[in-house]
Amino acid sequence: MVLAAGVGSRMRSTLPKVLHRVAGRTLLEAVLDAAAPLEPSRVVVVVGSDRERIAAALEGRGVHFAVQDPPCGTGDAVVRAREALGEDGSPIVVLAGDTPLLRPETLARLVARRDEKRLDLAFLTFRPPEPGDFGRVVRDRRGRPSGIVEARNASPRQKRLGEVNAGVYCFAADALWRAVDRLRRDPASGEFFLTDAVAILAKQGGRVEALEAEDWREAFGVNTRRDLAAAEQLEQRRGVERALDAGVTVLDPGTVRIGPRVVLGADVVLHPFVSLEGKTVLADRCAVLSFTRLLDTEVAAGASVGPHCDAEGAKIGVNARVGPYSRLRPGAQLGEDVRVGNFVEIKNSVLHRGAKAQHLAYLGDADVGPAANIGAGVITCNYDGQKKHRTTVGEGAFVGTDSQLVAPVTVGRGAYVAAGTTVTGNVPDGALAISRVPQVNKEGWAARRKAKKG
Ligand code: UD1
Ligand code: CA
Repeated sequence: MVLAAGVGSRMRSTLPKVLHRVAGRTLLEAVLDAAAPLEPSRVVVVVGSDRERIAAALEGRGVHFAVQDPPCGTGDAVVRAREALGEDGSPIVVLAGDTPLLRPETLARLVARRDEKRLDLAFLTFRPPEPGDFGRVVRDRRGRPSGIVEARNASPRQKRLGEVNAGVYCFAADALWRAVDRLRRDPASGEFFLTDAVAILAKQGGRVEALEAEDWREAFGVNTRRDLAAAEQLEQRRGVERALDAGVTVLDPGTVRIGPRVVLGADVVLHPFVSLEGKTVLADRCAVLSFTRLLDTEVAAGASVGPHCDAEGAKIGVNARVGPYSRLRPGAQLGEDVRVGNFVEIKNSVLHRGAKAQHLAYLGDADVGPAANIGAGVITCNYDGQKKHRTTVGEGAFVGTDSQLVAPVTVGRGAYVAAGTTVTGNVPDGALAISRVPQVNKEGWAARRKAKKG
């Protein structure tokens, strides 16, 4: 169960809080991703007045929804989800939709702990540097959790407690429903707090354990824009640490951003101001040079990209060299040893092994054969205003500087296109295509002009 019905007023935003993003993922997606490896039999997201926007954002994820409108506290939210959850008796994991840094391993550890010890409740705690507004975990003399006190209800002494509630729970189903049936409104806010379930179960002699997260950052909850900014920094920092542990050289860790879904090989080198986003994969021995952003891009072993490149949905082959200042758009596929240089834009195009486009070109919807050379200023005219058309350049072909390839068109294997040619018809294998007005030299013209001017 994921609670996401709160109004999130502290964000001061028209966007529902759980749809704000950390490292490119919405807070809610991040939480659902953390829970996915548990293979839950059913996922219910509790939504409020923003239900339509949240449902639209989660389309295709196969989650169920329960509605809590108006919101009346985390305890009330759980009650609203009861029907949608069904009653098959399996344990129920309750998550807050605003804790995007939670890792699947930690959640799995919590669930395993509850299962092993047949606990009524296992919940996650952490010790942030600043306990702030988090609910304080109160333990009895024997160290067992006896309750959670929200910061605003805490006594000065309780406020000093460093262990706080992460809002991540695994309940035995019967214990959860037993506890929520007994929740009372918090007198100050009028809300039902799920956190009170700890005291209720503990008082009944139930088996309740609090498990402390190894890394406090995991449990960090987002309530404000400040929290959102802090979560982003924590996530990026975590990405850098993960990279360093995997054998990556990070030249200036403070400036490099690595998202949580990025996969990195060994001996990768990341230069300053690199941003790796989405499902980017870097194989062994790649280098990414400064000011380069890679989103959902795969880079094969030994390739180098950058500086100043932008790639999205691209594939870069073994030992390829891309940059500086190259732009790869979705569907750009570069084979082994391909070279792409400055101010070259490539979209939905394949460049086969050893092909080159080193300067100032646009290749859209093109297939460029092995070892073909695309000269400076070559443009595929792939769009006629209505439809996109393909351009094919054969193996070893040489497309001269400042040519336009008006698609659909094919330049044959080993063919040449002379500089400045507008190619409107297919060029046979091994032929030369040339379309230029013949050059005329007028001897002495400059002097005559000067004389005329006086
Ligand atoms: C909650 C916990 C607190 C804990 C902290 C961890 C309670 C009472 N307090 O406080 O102990 O330290 O999380 O981050 O649970 N929600 C609903 N319906 C509601 C209210 C909230 O669905 O009526 C959802 C929110 O959308 C949010 C989550 O529950 O995703 C947590 O609610 P929030 O208001 O952020 O609780 P905190 O004050 O952070
Ligand atoms: Ca919160």
